Amino acid sequence: MDSNKLMNPELENSIEENLETSIRPKVLEEYIGQSKVKENMKIYIEAAKKREEALDHVLLYGPPGLGKTTLANIIANEMNSNIKITSGPAIEKAGDLAALLTNLSEFDVLFIDEIHRLNKNVEEILYPALEDFTLDIVIGKGPTSKSIRIDLPKFTLIGATTKAGSLSTPLRDRFGIVSRLELYDINDLKSIVKRTAKILDVDIDEKSAEEIARRSRGTPRIANRLLKRVRDYAAVLSNNNIDIKLTKVALNRLEIDEIGLDDIDRKILETMIEKYGGRPVGIDALATTVGEEVDTIEDVYEPYLIQIGFISRTPRGRIPLPAAYAHMGYEMK
Ligand SMILES: Nc1ncnc2c1ncn2[C@@H]1O[C@H](COP(=O)(O)OP(=O)(O)OP(=O)(O)O)[C@@H](O)[C@H]1O
Ligand SMILES: [Mg+2]
Repeated sequence: MDSNKLMNPELENSIEENLETSIRPKVLEEYIGQSKVKENMKIYIEAAKKREEALDHVLLYGPPGLGKTTLANIIANEMNSNIKITSGPAIEKAGDLAALLTNLSEFDVLFIDEIHRLNKNVEEILYPALEDFTLDIVIGKGPTSKSIRIDLPKFTLIGATTKAGSLSTPLRDRFGIVSRLELYDINDLKSIVKRTAKILDVDIDEKSAEEIARRSRGTPRIANRLLKRVRDYAAVLSNNNIDIKLTKVALNRLEIDEIGLDDIDRKILETMIEKYGGRPVGIDALATTVGEEVDTIEDVYEPYLIQIGFISRTPRGRIPLPAAYAHMGYEMK
């Protein structure tokens, strides 16, 4: 089994996608954790419904697999609105966005995933659409061209991004609601594992659910994926019976350690400790040495390593912290 594939929450395949649909919470009530975001969102949604207005535009940001797409769908559902789903890189030309916008109905939700990857021309069309629900389009070319203004229906844009920092200021400022999703704690992940197990019709005990939670690096998508792999091992090795012993065997075979680190995490830490001797290292140098993309390290690996206090970002670069030395079995010099 390719553990990289398993740990990288950005990779999907189509069978998993079908399962994804069935295990994805559909209403706020089923959305586990993120209590601050959830409570606020509930109020904004209720208020918008009371006023019979479209919900303000929403920006959701945070590392992959934390539930941005899920939450966008839930918001549309709770608003009783239709959702149209697209992504930054899929909207190539200004005309593509114009077509999307003019096809919206009153109170629809337009979900743009990876919104930090919108190109500049497209983004500029979006500004008046978000602010005044108008679309300015130019017809014809040269001196005879005319600009016309079209009124758009009141809609809600939900943007999702793993990189809020890459969003231009004018775009970011046009979102009335900006919510950051946090890595989940073990208890929430445990609830997610148990909920998914129920939907998949798998029996799992408390200890095993907790073990999976502990190795899921704060990420529901990883928790669900580990559960599915443990279920596979159970089918082959133990008559579908998931207990703590089987769970540990399965997870160890996937080369995920007790706190959820995989071989790339370990490589990152080893590089920082051994090769750079614990001195600050820049993200580019680190990525090159480890053999991963800068984006992958920043979006997928680093947030968890920072969260658990293994590395720290300083103005001069990343440094490994004592907990990382201890976990990796190194003496701190
Ligand atoms: N709060 C939650 N409660 C229960 N399940 C959740 C929750 N958040 C996410 N999940 C599960 O985790 C999976 C990943 O969530 P989702 O696809 O929404 O993440 P994402 O933030 O959009 O990731 P990406 O940045 O890669 O697009 C979903 O299948 C969903 O079932
Ligand atoms: Mg998503």
